[in-house]
Amino acid sequence: MLVLGLETSCDETGVALYDSERGLLADALFSQIDLHRVYGGVVPELASRDHVKRMLPLIRQVLEEAGCTAAQIDAVAYTAGPGLVGALLVGASCAQAMAFAWGVPALGVHHMEGHLLAPMLEATPPAFPFVALLVSGGHTQLVRVDGIGQYQLLGESLDDAAGEAFDKTAKLMGLPYPGGPEIARIAEAGVAGRFVFPRPMTDRPGLDFSFSGLKTFTLNTWQQCQASGDDSEQTRCDVAHAFQQAVVDTLTIKCRRALKQTGLNSLVIAGGVSANKALRQSLEQMLGSINGQVFYARPAFCTDNGAMIAYAGCQRLLAGQHEDLSISVQARWPMEQLPAL
Ligand SMILES: Nc1ncnc2c1ncn2[C@@H]1O[C@H](COP(=O)(O)OP(=O)(O)OP(=O)(O)O)[C@@H](O)[C@H]1O
Ligand SMILES: [Mg+2]
Repeated sequence: MLVLGLETSCDETGVALYDSERGLLADALFSQIDLHRVYGGVVPELASRDHVKRMLPLIRQVLEEAGCTAAQIDAVAYTAGPGLVGALLVGASCAQAMAFAWGVPALGVHHMEGHLLAPMLEATPPAFPFVALLVSGGHTQLVRVDGIGQYQLLGESLDDAAGEAFDKTAKLMGLPYPGGPEIARIAEAGVAGRFVFPRPMTDRPGLDFSFSGLKTFTLNTWQQCQASGDDSEQTRCDVAHAFQQAVVDTLTIKCRRALKQTGLNSLVIAGGVSANKALRQSLEQMLGSINGQVFYARPAFCTDNGAMIAYAGCQRLLAGQHEDLSISVQARWPMEQLPAL
């Protein structure tokens, strides 16, 4: 089955062609980062309008790259939520219109299921069951995964998502949007141990997270440094290092707890923050110590992309799922509401 996947939940237009027999055939992405950077964050209306402009050229591009024609497409999968409603509606209407014109089924995919399954596109995919740490711009969740659509939420952030904390902290420290990769970049030059920040909610039982206090702690530290005239580039790197280390340690502690609680030793990390090198290293070390294994996608498939939507959609379409002709998207959509395959 050849599936065209469309991703438009936020500020990236992602398009891909996935074939159930041959794997990923083509994948193209347009990132709107430059468009939103001047505003320091995503402007929803600008995002929607840009998706409209990029969608058809990207679809033509993947068809050409894959050497396919539209007539060969068996189904269209699109992100139906969670995300920005206007942006989601662009992908949903394009997908439904093309599916109707081509006489093939369309299916709305859950964006976080897409992220969660992205590591399945790699050479050594994880096997069920596993624990998944979803760490993105809008989500921080620990989920027990027994199969596609068999999700049990173990814990989540009570306030900011991990990626959101990276982005907001970066902004407060004068770094450009998106802040996650910027903090990661300057943290590499930071001196370990010069500043030590709290590991929120690790001193009590449970698997929930809270990152907004850590963001404030980081801002206070940086402002104190500035007030005392110590606002050199090195100090900024040291503060970024301490922030990143606190997030990484907190996530690692909670992952270890989740694995212990479930009795599993396989961990999948997905979403934009799973591209973070320090996080990968820390989790690899922790999983190594319990004879387990950690799985993640290539960096381009950690952040938003069409390939994960084409893949997740394909699995559900193969099981016979599809939508009627109505166009409906959801800004909020708990992943546990998805049907099991
Ligand atoms: N190397 C990195 N280190 C830390 N954070 C990173 C890194 N690379 C990307 N991020 C963060 O990942 C986030 C983007 O990831 P993603 O595209 O999965 O999120 P989103 O789609 O905005 O949110 P969601 O998937 O929850 O709707 C941003 O917050 C970004 O700062
Ligand atoms: Mg995302």
